[in-house]
Amino acid sequence: MKRVLVDMSATIIHHGHIRLLKKASKYGEVIVALTTDEEIRAKKGYEPELNYEQRKEILESIKYVKEVVPTSWLIDEDILKKYNIDLLVHGDDNSNQINEKKLLIFPRTKGVSSSLIRQKVMLAYAKKKSQNILLNPGPATTTANVKLAQVVDDICPREKEFGDLMEWVSTELTKIVANPKEYTTVLFGGSGTAVVESIITSVVPHDKKILIVNNGAYGKRMCQIADRFDINFIEFQSSPIEPINIQKLEETIQKNQNISHLAVIHNETTTGLLNNLDDLGNLAKKYNLELIVDAMSSYAAIPIDMNKQNITYLAASSNKNIQGMAGVGFVIAKKSSLENLKDIKPRSFYLSLYEQYTNFIKTHQMRFTPPVQTMYALKQAIIEAKKEGIENRYKRYSSSWETLTNGLKELKLKYLVDDEYHSKIITSIFIPDGVDFNDMHDFFYNRGFTIYPGKVAEFNTFRVANIGEIDYRDIEAFLEMLREYLSEG
Ligand SMILES: Cc1ncc(COP(=O)(O)O)c(C=O)c1O
Repeated sequence: MKRVLVDMSATIIHHGHIRLLKKASKYGEVIVALTTDEEIRAKKGYEPELNYEQRKEILESIKYVKEVVPTSWLIDEDILKKYNIDLLVHGDDNSNQINEKKLLIFPRTKGVSSSLIRQKVMLAYAKKKSQNILLNPGPATTTANVKLAQVVDDICPREKEFGDLMEWVSTELTKIVANPKEYTTVLFGGSGTAVVESIITSVVPHDKKILIVNNGAYGKRMCQIADRFDINFIEFQSSPIEPINIQKLEETIQKNQNISHLAVIHNETTTGLLNNLDDLGNLAKKYNLELIVDAMSSYAAIPIDMNKQNITYLAASSNKNIQGMAGVGFVIAKKSSLENLKDIKPRSFYLSLYEQYTNFIKTHQMRFTPPVQTMYALKQAIIEAKKEGIENRYKRYSSSWETLTNGLKELKLKYLVDDEYHSKIITSIFIPDGVDFNDMHDFFYNRGFTIYPGKVAEFNTFRVANIGEIDYRDIEAFLEMLREYLSEG
């Protein structure tokens, strides 16, 4: 009887292996040349899931197998001689260099391989993890593929390959709100606040003033940044739950000299109040002001057109509606305005917008170490955002919000900001009497949902954001739990 050798690693054994062994057994008695653990590590670069002894035990119990012998990854004539082999059987990915007469090639079983199963296991694991539903306003719940995109080979970010990746990311982020011919995206390693700080400390000439609308915690934060850097600023206080009085804002502009910039938050994440960019853009245009928009919690959900809405600088980050990981902040800006920054001495070294911009043009690099893995996740997140489409994403978010607010009404819970001015992205809900936020938080957290505290001092609220890779069904599940929590209380 002929002796037939079948070489394999079989670290994850599947039906493709069995079919190959069965076919081989038609030609004689089957000897499995099983790759040793050392060889798998050295030649394939991974740790075998099952060690040699375990794999051997499985293979020896298969009825088509006569014997299992340890071998290197590649089979040569010496091995054939050593085990007295007449024929080597392999799938059509064969790379063994042996005499053709002794070689029998079979097509591989379609749709299965150890590496495919390995990928599926990783995906299943990542999906299981994402059963945590984040209802905080970012970092948002992400897809399994965004999480997995971070698992990449180590790479020095100064390599061209990584520069190309950042260039792609920059262009695609721009396209979401503007034409890349006239606008560009400047990337920073840092959270959203870093890029807001970059804009404020970089763009206001030293002899000019910035007018900042404060109608929530994030407007206030812009004032704090300006104050910290001794930048001349005017704070325009506005109700946290009512639309901005544009007439009053205009009067403030008229009363003050030397204002060069107007800064606003698009979606005040404190309350969900959506400031009207069309009105603010028109006002900025009328008085020849550059409009700065913190679109941290609206970008990549609520459609924005920087050119139409007369926005010069827009700040956003990787971990909210774009549905990537935390760590990249970015400024989308009009190129002609960025060029003009060369005459303004930046107040910050690290966050100098002009230097970050010009350096990127020259080198396709950030000036300092970028968050490498976050950048890979951001690329995947952009691919997914493009696939879904920004308008569809906002439809999905809006439908979650409708589900949420209808449920709140049924439960007789009230929320801040009238529907008319609401962003439909984050809702600030009044905490019923006798309920403690921390207790409620823990109740939900233990059941896989993360809720967020309120941020307006004068109202006792908690917040629910309906962003990220969730939909109305997750909100229904949350409402069901809320009903349970309130009835138990
Ligand atoms: C409108 C707005 N601006 C700025 C920030 C600050 O972003 P980060 O916490 O990433 O610094 C946030 C965060 O939620 C925000 O919602």
